Amino acid sequence: MKVEEKLISLVKNYYEKIDFTIGYPVCQYPNMEGFGEWYSKSGICDMVLDNVGNPFAEEQFILGSSVIEQEVIRTFASLYGISKDNAWGFVTNSGTDGNMHGIYFGAKKLQNETGMLPIAYVSKEAHYSSYRICDVQNLEVKLIDRGENGGMDLECLRKSIDPTKPALIIIAIGSTFMGAIDDQAGIQKVLDDVKPIGVYKHLDAALFGGYLPFTKYNDIINMEKQGYDSIAISGHKFFGIDEPSGLFLSRKDVLAAQKAYKVDYLNSDMPLISCSRSGLSPLKFYWIIKHTGFEKLTEEAESMLEHTKYLQQKFDEINYSAWHMPYSNTVFFKRPEKWIQEKYSLANGFLPEYGGELSHIVVMQHVKKNIIDDFIKDIVSSSEITKN
Ligand SMILES: Cc1ncc(COP(=O)(O)O)c(C=O)c1O
Repeated sequence: MKVEEKLISLVKNYYEKIDFTIGYPVCQYPNMEGFGEWYSKSGICDMVLDNVGNPFAEEQFILGSSVIEQEVIRTFASLYGISKDNAWGFVTNSGTDGNMHGIYFGAKKLQNETGMLPIAYVSKEAHYSSYRICDVQNLEVKLIDRGENGGMDLECLRKSIDPTKPALIIIAIGSTFMGAIDDQAGIQKVLDDVKPIGVYKHLDAALFGGYLPFTKYNDIINMEKQGYDSIAISGHKFFGIDEPSGLFLSRKDVLAAQKAYKVDYLNSDMPLISCSRSGLSPLKFYWIIKHTGFEKLTEEAESMLEHTKYLQQKFDEINYSAWHMPYSNTVFFKRPEKWIQEKYSLANGFLPEYGGELSHIVVMQHVKKNIIDDFIKDIVSSSEITKN
């Protein structure tokens, strides 16, 4: 088969499977309607758009879309309780890229303020990227046990914190498998008691950070109310951008606390790890603001949480072990037979306190009642149900 034919067969396969792909946090029907047409008609498709470095720097690379990127950051920042005047951030390659920068800026801010690199504290339940990033940055990491509802065990955190060293707290707002949220007020209480010599709090909100601002639970990701320093969110998860991308949102003082890193050939200070960055992704975020609109995102967020409850209720009706954590759109349950795992592209996990082998469904925009009903019928028809 020629490469092009392989690609066409992949596309066909994608459309056949798309509605049944329910184990991963991807908005399978992107929110980008009309973007492709505008992109080609505007002539932008024939340009190279490169947003080099900090989009708010005075000197900008000429072939970039940083003016749009600034607008994107300011507009989204206000959804997260960061005032437009104080907001700083940029459009990232992915949630991982946002975490990479949050951990980097946090470590450098603390090092510049205290003369010491921090210890990073992160829950065992958090996404693996956080430990990998700490590894790359050569930071000491202390893994905190899973407590109630899957969030950080606060007693374990209390015992782990070394008050003589600055603390970089990586907070999971929606862990990958369980959909668990760390208790920010509880963490703050521990920090107030133990008083490490410096604190930076980064939120990994790759999935939940997309939909929570559009729900009545938006306080959870409100920087002013929660007192965190930076947050990373993926663009291809809830927002429905059609390729990996994300947002890193923080404040001007976090930027100001970084050591200057002047790069002569760019005639600018370069605080970011990345040099070249996509100039197209900010245009896609801008499209979401202007054309998809926050009203549609609000409807999508509400309907996702309703469908999550519906899925839980269907499991309960057939007496099949299943759970979902507060504010979460992820339902995890006793692992079904292999054919069901494959048909629905389920993601698997292992949690001894919930009986061991489990799978989960992430109730994204495309996981509607009809798919849930089909899935439950398959569970009922499988032999697994009789063993439950
Ligand atoms: C909690 C969490 N953080 C970070 C990531 C990584 O995000 P990305 O795939 O956008 O790099 C994921 C991915 O699923 C995640 O679930």
